[in-house]
Amino acid sequence: MKLEYFFVLVISSIISFCSFSCEKKNVEAPYALTISEGFINPIGFYDSRPTLSWKLPVSEQVKSQTAYQVVLASSEELLPNNPDLWDSNKQDSEQVSFVKYQGKVLESRQKVYWQVRYWNENGKVSEWSEANTFELGLLHNIDWKAKWTGLDTAKDSIKGVRKFLMHKPQYLRKGFTLPNHVKSARLYITAKGIFDVHLNGKNVSDDVMPPGWTPYNHRIETLTYNVTDFLEIGKNVIAVELATGWHSGRISRGKALYDNFASPKVLCQLEITLKDGSKQTILSDESWKGTTNGPIRLAGIYDGETYNANFEIPNWSTSNFDDVSWQNVEVEPISDDVQLEPKRHTTVKNKTIIKDVEIVSVKENSVIFNLKQNMVGIPNVKVPMKKGDTLTIRFSEMLLNDGTFYTTNYRSAQSTDYYIAAADGIIEYKPKFTFHGFQFVELSGFDKEAKPETTWVEGIVQHSDFEKNGTFTSSHHKLNQLQSNITWGLRDNFFDVPTDCPQRDERLGWTGDAQVISPTAMFNYNTHAFWTGWLQSMRETQSEHNNGLIPFIIPDVLQNNNGSSGWGDAGVIIPWDIYNITGDISVLEENYDMSKKWVSYYQSKAENYIPNMYSFADWLQPYPEKTGKIGNRGDTPKELINTAYFAHSAHLVSKMARVLGKTEEEKIYKKLYKEVANAFENTFFDNGKFTGKKQTQTSYLLAIYFDLLKPETKVKAQKQLLEEIKNANNHLGTGFLGTPLLPKVLDDMGEIDLMYKILFKETYPSWFYSINQGATTMWERWNSFSKAEGYNPQSMNSLNHYAYGAIGQWMYERIAGIASLEPGYKKIRIAPIPNTDFLNSASASLNTPYGKASSSWKIENKTFQLEVVVAPNTSAEVHIPYGSIENLYVNGNLFKATSNIKLIHSDKEFFVISVNSGTYKFQTKL
Ligand code: BGC
Repeated sequence: MKLEYFFVLVISSIISFCSFSCEKKNVEAPYALTISEGFINPIGFYDSRPTLSWKLPVSEQVKSQTAYQVVLASSEELLPNNPDLWDSNKQDSEQVSFVKYQGKVLESRQKVYWQVRYWNENGKVSEWSEANTFELGLLHNIDWKAKWTGLDTAKDSIKGVRKFLMHKPQYLRKGFTLPNHVKSARLYITAKGIFDVHLNGKNVSDDVMPPGWTPYNHRIETLTYNVTDFLEIGKNVIAVELATGWHSGRISRGKALYDNFASPKVLCQLEITLKDGSKQTILSDESWKGTTNGPIRLAGIYDGETYNANFEIPNWSTSNFDDVSWQNVEVEPISDDVQLEPKRHTTVKNKTIIKDVEIVSVKENSVIFNLKQNMVGIPNVKVPMKKGDTLTIRFSEMLLNDGTFYTTNYRSAQSTDYYIAAADGIIEYKPKFTFHGFQFVELSGFDKEAKPETTWVEGIVQHSDFEKNGTFTSSHHKLNQLQSNITWGLRDNFFDVPTDCPQRDERLGWTGDAQVISPTAMFNYNTHAFWTGWLQSMRETQSEHNNGLIPFIIPDVLQNNNGSSGWGDAGVIIPWDIYNITGDISVLEENYDMSKKWVSYYQSKAENYIPNMYSFADWLQPYPEKTGKIGNRGDTPKELINTAYFAHSAHLVSKMARVLGKTEEEKIYKKLYKEVANAFENTFFDNGKFTGKKQTQTSYLLAIYFDLLKPETKVKAQKQLLEEIKNANNHLGTGFLGTPLLPKVLDDMGEIDLMYKILFKETYPSWFYSINQGATTMWERWNSFSKAEGYNPQSMNSLNHYAYGAIGQWMYERIAGIASLEPGYKKIRIAPIPNTDFLNSASASLNTPYGKASSSWKIENKTFQLEVVVAPNTSAEVHIPYGSIENLYVNGNLFKATSNIKLIHSDKEFFVISVNSGTYKFQTKL
């Protein structure tokens, strides 16, 4: 055969093979399968009616989905053709997220396998996805045979060098023998308190202070661990360290809420299947032994931990130990009043380590380290010590100007750890049952002969285990520092519940702080499950009050039977925000009743639609008329704030009702909103002007943003607002409630340049002011600290409070330009508004339920360039603020409308182009 002929033959057969197989080949499989609020192959899962989500691949072959099919089975072999649990069959639908499982009832412990495929815009079917799984935890109290087990530590609680009574942590253990090798094993465990569990001397998990914090009088969350590889034939031991945590320790102002400082108890059930198919279950019960004579002598969330190495108990958590001298435990049966439910969001974990540490001062036997970042978690200390000496570890957020260690703003929280050495040499210690908020660490009591080294201290950063969901960056270093401060502030305060601050004697789930930050939090981190878990706690707490009250703090440790406008509204605003950001309708279904009840709380307090109730009002507004504590509530009258939030919550409930198809209720709440708005305008405004004694930015912001004025008076109010801002020399004048509304209102008014001016202000009060004073997190007050004067003298003064970080939403949505136009970013608006006085580039990316979306612009050589990524199965409206359509280039070519890209609006100011999924580079001359 001639050589050329041979080549022709080979090439043509390759071509025909390829065209044959390409024709036959399905489009790429979906990926990133998750269930409910974003869980990936979980075990011990909480939801027996989960929702199912997936993403379409980024590929030329896939613009959108026209249909899907999901299949669920009790074993992998049955997939995809014989699903015994549920087959959705082919559903003509674009939905890729939160598809509701509608199959057979699922039981505790059940493991489920599932797969999905979709049909693209041309009706071509995809490959099946890989099989994913989920395994349910123990869903009902009845599944538990174990008993609450522990020692009575309440009777010997002590103060020692501490100011407050503390329980001694417990060491509990139980040995058992397995006659065969283990096929599989699950450990179901929780505590009234916090625990760390070991099997045969090994740590079962890296969870920090599980099970976390819920209203323990209603619900305690349980954890499930796969411990198959921890067990062995023959002797085994389960060992638990147990401390008070939020359950039995001091929380809030000296109170312990649950069972009056009751002793902590563990509940665990180790279910083992042996290789021969037989089963064994090890329960927490009266056969356990315990001691409080271990090395962790004391531990409390606010006050810190005391560790005495002289009390270490070698091998106590292994089977090579005799516990005969240990005490017998006490037990308590499970009660039906408290629901045991699998944890519905992730635990706290050690997330990162700060190693870049500086020594800032060395005095005789005391040294101060600067971690250069205000953080939350624990220190890891590696320090030379002398036998019997006590190392004292103190924490501070910022030093005083003279370098003095400052702890006054921790108030009654001692936040101090002690380590007592058992021998000469380098000790390594990290506390286990406490956490601190700090940037500086002071060590004293180490070996006097040793020269302090920066390696002595590392910072272990802890927060609830979620990952980044978005990024924001720009050409301005202070704006980038602000983004960093916002994201640190968020992580630092997402410690199982959303806390106000992480360092002083609070660390509580303040509802007002949470409602202002939730959108920014969701852009930056995947906190969907974190929020819905906390909302469950909120519903449980509200159920205690038959008038619909949502207390100030969830879990409610104050128990003062009081609610505040702007705070309790978290029960309405957060579900609505989550729905809009994720598209998850179940968050509305779960929380709709709570939202309605909160509105009824306003109704119960209102006379002629003006509620007479408590309010923290526009908390920490700058330059309040009154000084001291009273000034904390700002100058906007609480009656105005009560009425504004009453109207706003009623309005949101009507919107929720519409989404849920409750047409009658939609009308009822809309009518209520209009009536309250009317009363608001008549009572507090006259012809667009606030009639109160002192004009405030917030009174206008609430009236305008919540849409409480007639169109003609609204325009006048807008003018007044501008007047107020001008009077403040373009500074903000807002507290917790007004601040998040400021950018939204100015934006709607077309006053973007003014908003830029306010945001880029360097002087007090402003975001950059704190950055100029060295802030690495968001501060509680606009003037919490200054380089010139040090700390604000008010004792309520945290340097790690996220509320003012709510500006993060505007940074994503307007500076970089990504906003959701339809719930879950099914349709996106890419509308950056550059301001060249301050910036020449900005970009943001978001992991939406459909995949990555991003917007990135820069201005160079008088050319505006915008790069946009639109996720599969979504579309975008791109707003181009410069040039004209005649000089617009898209991906290097002059703009030409196609099926993927169309001009939908054009005027002198900007033009709008609609695009389907894909990556686009726009370029236009300024
Ligand atoms: C908290 C706040 C909270 C406020 C209520 C403070 O002690 O730290 O952030 O929202 O009280 O007024």
